[in-house]
Amino acid sequence: MTSIGDAWRLARQRIDRLDARLLIEYVSGCSHADLIAHPTRRLSELQVRRLDTLVRRRASGEPLAYLLGSAGFYGREFKVTGDVLVPRPETELLVELALERLRHVAEPVVADLGTGSGALAVTLKCLCPQARVVAVDLSPAALAVARLNASLHRATVRFVEGDWYGPLTDEHFDLIVANPPYVAAADPHLERGGLPFEPRLALTDGVHGGDGLACTRVIVGGAVRHLLPGGWLLIEHGHEHGVAVRHLLHRAGLSEVATWPDLSGSERVSGACLVGGRD
Ligand SMILES: C[S@@+](CC[C@H](N)C(=O)[O-])C[C@H]1O[C@@H](n2cnc3c(N)ncnc32)[C@H](O)[C@@H]1O
Repeated sequence: MTSIGDAWRLARQRIDRLDARLLIEYVSGCSHADLIAHPTRRLSELQVRRLDTLVRRRASGEPLAYLLGSAGFYGREFKVTGDVLVPRPETELLVELALERLRHVAEPVVADLGTGSGALAVTLKCLCPQARVVAVDLSPAALAVARLNASLHRATVRFVEGDWYGPLTDEHFDLIVANPPYVAAADPHLERGGLPFEPRLALTDGVHGGDGLACTRVIVGGAVRHLLPGGWLLIEHGHEHGVAVRHLLHRAGLSEVATWPDLSGSERVSGACLVGGRD
């Protein structure tokens, strides 16, 4: 018979403390306090087998969020599967910047391009209930996860399948947010850490050109046609892409072009607004 204490020691030989703790809590249904107070509590054979499988998967680099089936984002839990990118803390900057802009619009119309788990669309709808939010993704499997998250958080979001602006033909927005795939196809990081477990479609534009900016070019290029006067585009990008993205935003005819750093000081989100009207 395996106790929680035994399981802890075995897990710690292969993975780090926090991951071991969270996986034991997940498998046993115990709280953190239970683990500390009752290390002799027995795990069932089934729990031991499940834990062993999860520890092996974690040791091979699979992101903890996939093993637990959820990830925290801006104070909410989001279901995640291998069909969606695990929402990243740096993307929370996009939420902050979006909320600052939504505050000035009575009933904003918002688009989230490449919604993945729905983290951005659902968070914005929850924090700005008067907004009308549409979320687009090319992946039907990702959209199924996003729909589940919207329903868990009681957020009314319209989800549509398609290629960036493709399904939004005649629609115009006060705010467009996007966290497109921006890892270059040749970037060796794609083969490291947890990235091999995440969907390629969410990580890299390899299929489109591969320099990490192909999707960004399409999104920035289409913004003028889909922004309302005074509307903003906010787009996440690689830390090395700030100059290139600002250049794209200027070239698209947008104004107030700016870039904001994430918590580690890296240029992470750029944005600009449409002054006046469309042609
Ligand atoms: C980096 S993930 C972002 C997911 C989520 N917005 C987030 O921030 O956690 C990029 C998303 O874009 C989607 N995507 C990739 N190519 C696309 C395309 N051509 N049109 C629409 N969505 C696309 C992927 O399926 C993926 O869900």
